[in-house]
Amino acid sequence: MSEFPTLPNGFVLGTATASYQVEGAVDEDGRGRSVWDTFCAEPDRIKNGETGDVACDHYHRYPEDVALMSELGMDAYRFSIAWPRVVPDGSGPVNPAGLDFYDRLVDSLLAAEITPAATLFHWDLPQALQDAGGWQSRDTAARLAEYATVVGERLGDRVGMWMPINEPVVVTMFGHALGVHAPGLALGFDALPVAHHLLLGHGLAVQALRAAGCSSIGIASNHAPTWPASSSPEDQEAAALYDTLVNRLFADPVLTGAYPEGLAEAMPGPVEDDLKVISSPLDWFGINYYQPSLVGAPGGGGAESPVLEGAPVPEGLPFEPRQLTGYDRTDFGWAVVPDGLREILVTFRERYGDALPPVYVTESGCSFHDVVDEHGQVHDERRVAYHREHLDAVAAAVDAGVDVRGYFVWSLLDNFEWAEGFTERFGLVHVDFETQHRTPKDSYRWFQQHLATRPSGK
Ligand code: NOJ
Repeated sequence: MSEFPTLPNGFVLGTATASYQVEGAVDEDGRGRSVWDTFCAEPDRIKNGETGDVACDHYHRYPEDVALMSELGMDAYRFSIAWPRVVPDGSGPVNPAGLDFYDRLVDSLLAAEITPAATLFHWDLPQALQDAGGWQSRDTAARLAEYATVVGERLGDRVGMWMPINEPVVVTMFGHALGVHAPGLALGFDALPVAHHLLLGHGLAVQALRAAGCSSIGIASNHAPTWPASSSPEDQEAAALYDTLVNRLFADPVLTGAYPEGLAEAMPGPVEDDLKVISSPLDWFGINYYQPSLVGAPGGGGAESPVLEGAPVPEGLPFEPRQLTGYDRTDFGWAVVPDGLREILVTFRERYGDALPPVYVTESGCSFHDVVDEHGQVHDERRVAYHREHLDAVAAAVDAGVDVRGYFVWSLLDNFEWAEGFTERFGLVHVDFETQHRTPKDSYRWFQQHLATRPSGK
């Protein structure tokens, strides 16, 4: 087994999942419908017509999954709370059975000495709110805050870390600009107000969680270095614009209370007042990282969606995402660039200075099409290398002065990878979706071995 990177004392290691991707039990105990239930039921949205109806059946099997985490020995578990389980219509009556599930989950984690880290909105918006306008409507931000109060009051005494929202850029871009994620709207640049409402929802929920007595509040936002396709002024300009739209549009308002130049005008509402809410102080900032984006001016050829392989790149954009060549790729086709993680962490420190609170890598991971061999083993040595190299990149960022406090592996379990269905496997634990049998992979053993012997202990 290869050597484990040297990380600061007290560095938090965790795994991550999200409700719709693992829970299943979509019709049980009073759960309402979410936009992902609706989207998956539409023809041709999801590979092989798959859905999250059963997924990893984690809703029923969470004791087994917590036992796997306990054996693994990681410090924390990042999960998301399904809004439609807790508030089935998105506003109004609370479903006690939904809250009870998360109560049991949190207590089991604590009994196993694992810190619960909860995301409130990991994309499964209640369908009733979508019917009322979803994230195109300002009201949805207020509804997120109400739901945050409900959850914060119930779990605030026990959840160790909070994230109101996950990856607002993906919700905006894939869900509302390109239409490849729920709710499947292809609005192009008219999706910009969605970004504003998500950010407003984040800020209002931060305030609601604090008022409910919760501590350690952050965000899980995906970021990646944007590399110009060449040194030509056209490519540089296109890459800068792309960087503004996928990185700065979300991090600037949260960390500095201002939109990048020219974008405030595109936003609805009393933007200046909203920015005060959006920039409510955070205890930490979470970065999800997968791969850098290579971007050039339009017309250079080879346009491809940088994150979701195969997603259509609309015509007429002022930039063009390009294929990154010269790197190993995961089975999902994503480039493996560990140094991009060091680079984005250092960029954030340089860009935001002391406005950047301590950072967590709230997601990092890779999909390989793993199989269980005849001895019941999963030899995923490429995943071991992936996490070793990405943790080395974190260590390099720490050496460069970035205050990185932890790293969450996406994911604990193979699970429902959105539009890709069950084809893409990110887990440290293999899941047979026919039998629900869990098989820890070699990558699980690699972490486990390190965690059992780490000098700082838990
Ligand atoms: C980001 C998302 O937060 C998560 O839901 C997804 O499965 C992983 N990245 C991998 O694409």
